[in-house]
Amino acid sequence: MEQSFIMIKPDGVRRGLIAEILTRFQQKGFTLRGAKLMQMEQALAEQHYAEHKERPFFPDLVEFITSGPVFAMVWEGEGMIAEARRLIGSTDPAEAAPGTIRGDLAVKKSENVIHGSDSPESAEREINLFFQKHELIETGKNSVIS
Ligand code: TYD
Ligand code: MG
Repeated sequence: MEQSFIMIKPDGVRRGLIAEILTRFQQKGFTLRGAKLMQMEQALAEQHYAEHKERPFFPDLVEFITSGPVFAMVWEGEGMIAEARRLIGSTDPAEAAPGTIRGDLAVKKSENVIHGSDSPESAEREINLFFQKHELIETGKNSVIS
């Protein structure tokens, strides 16, 4: 079964949106395999967003993502990576459809509440960057939240 790395960004945590976002993934029928509230350090932020390091918004992105705690998660399900991106909506909340997380809960592209892996390669890389094996519930076992 496919897994994706999903992270509620500092704006989402600050605005009290953790429960709302967890509910959306649970109600869709996905399974939570791991979760933690954590403060990202500069080095982790730069690694996580390495693909964007030449972009003009990179410094602001790193500053924003380290500006407060994030809520990091691993979700599992059928077509998890693409389905999560569908639930999340377009990068710019102004273009994200109503009913999506960004469409319903965000206004600014730079503070768009949530991250989701964009490919199987990104998902594997990001899960390994944020979680150790022992922090994840094994596939096949029931998780606490499903
Ligand atoms: P990106 O990977 O393109 O978007 P997504 O999160 O939908 O995969 O960009 C990473 C983050 O960088 C994005 O969520 C918000 C920020 N960003 C900006 O602040 N300005 C921009 O013009 C872009 C493209 C992204
Ligand atoms: Mg991306």
